[in-house]
Amino acid sequence: MPTRAWFPTYIYCEPLQKAGIPRLNTDLADECRRLRDFDAAGRRWSAKNYPGGYTSYASMNELHRFSSTFAALEKKLTRHVRTFARQLDMDLRGHSIRLTDLWVNIMPETAAHSLHLHPLSFMSGTYYVVTPKDCPGLKFEDPRLSKFMAAPPKVSAARRENRPHVTYPAEAGNVILFESWLRHEVPANRVPEERISISFNYNWS
Ligand SMILES: [Fe+2]
Repeated sequence: MPTRAWFPTYIYCEPLQKAGIPRLNTDLADECRRLRDFDAAGRRWSAKNYPGGYTSYASMNELHRFSSTFAALEKKLTRHVRTFARQLDMDLRGHSIRLTDLWVNIMPETAAHSLHLHPLSFMSGTYYVVTPKDCPGLKFEDPRLSKFMAAPPKVSAARRENRPHVTYPAEAGNVILFESWLRHEVPANRVPEERISISFNYNWS
């Protein structure tokens, strides 16, 4: 083949565990909703910065330190993060990885989360707790988009890997991992049920 692909952008998507996901997600959803009821500062922050939704990102973002439910989730997530790091050929021998932040996102109808990245970490991701039918997925942007200054548009039948965006459906029980510099967004939720996810950042030292 005269043409080969280089510098790929990897995205990881796997079920968190092989069995017991519905029970786990029922417990997590209860805890997420209780947190929203309890976290007045988070509700105030969300009213300004996360219209229509609730996130504990700015108020309670170390949930794994204070809740055994979230601490148990951390253990499971870390296994996936290690697997993904190996797939990326990251050399972490002699180093440790650490979950630095873990927070809850509840998106009722109309809530959206515009394009962003996750500073101060090397790997980030989301675990899906409640995903009503037709709720929005996680949309990633080609990290080279700003460099395509004079490129013609893509044909409508472009291969998926050549398109400027890819959307992973939100599926309860799945964990999605990506390198923290990769911009992404959640389009507006257009269904009347709440979509609940738990997002997190890892660092290494
Ligand atoms: Fe994010």
